[in-house]
Parts: sequence; C-alpha cells; structure tokens
Amino acid sequence: MPHTLLVLNGPNLNLLGTREPATYGHETLADIAELCRRTGERLGLSIEFQQTNHEGQLIEWIHQARGRCAGIVINPAAWTHTSVAIRDALAAVELPVIEVHLSNVHKREAFRHHSYVSPIAVGVLCGFGSHGYRLAIEHFAHLLEG
Ligand code: DQA
Repeated sequence: MPHTLLVLNGPNLNLLGTREPATYGHETLADIAELCRRTGERLGLSIEFQQTNHEGQLIEWIHQARGRCAGIVINPAAWTHTSVAIRDALAAVELPVIEVHLSNVHKREAFRHHSYVSPIAVGVLCGFGSHGYRLAIEHFAHLLEG
C-alpha cells in the first residue's frame, strides 16, 4: 500500500488563475492538483488533494487523516494568520505537517507575517509558487524513506 499524503488548501484558493495573478500566478488550483498527483506518482505516494472555503470542513479533513495519512501538506491561506482551531486540529492528529504558501508572505503586509501553523510544522515553504507543493511532497518522500 503506498503512503497517502493529504494536500489541503484553504479559502479563496479555488480562484487561483484569476485571483491577483501578479501575486499568485496564472496557474489554477486544478493545475496544482495535477502537479501534486504527478509528483506523488513519481515518488510512489498517493495524493489526496482538497480545497474548501469552510473552516469546519478543513478541520474535519484533518481529523479524518489520523491513522490513515502519512503527512499533511497545507496551504491554510488566510486561516494561517487567524485560526487557532486549525493549528489545534493539526497538533491533535500528530501527523507531520508542511506549510506551503505560493507567495512570500514575509514580503507582504505585516498581518501575513504571523502564522499559527508554523510552530507545529516540520517546515514552511513560501514564495516558490506551485513549486512549493512539489518540494513539500518531495520532502515527505525523503522523510518516509528514512
Ligand atoms: C497564501 C498567503 C496568505 O496570506 C493568503 O491569505 C492566501 C494565500 C499564499 O499561498 O501565498 O490566501 O497562503
């Protein structure tokens, strides 16, 4: 059975492609999902890719990953900066987490500089566009090999 990685995306990321392309690029979320699937396939990992605009839904998916998934790649989007509930859910399931942002949040408004998720993450990738998702999956493959 291949290991399964859960790739989660928070609010407004369904609009990628048309949403502030100067900041987030022209790729759609479907393009990123495909990139993740192909990366997983190459590395022998099964990828579950999800996006929601509802915080409770994201929390349910995190809970359901317990005992089923080997790790979580998450772009919590705006919830990064606001949600203690998402951080607590990630901590509760005791799975390794990699936080990803398309943009370099540290180059942007001050309210984006704080993340509730980073202190419980294995690592954070930001500013690499969709390539960040690929790097996160590759790092999980490396961790799981070990
Ligand atoms: C984001 C950065 C967040 O600050 C923002 O709220 C997003 C996207 C990113 O991928 O760069 O929605 O997570």
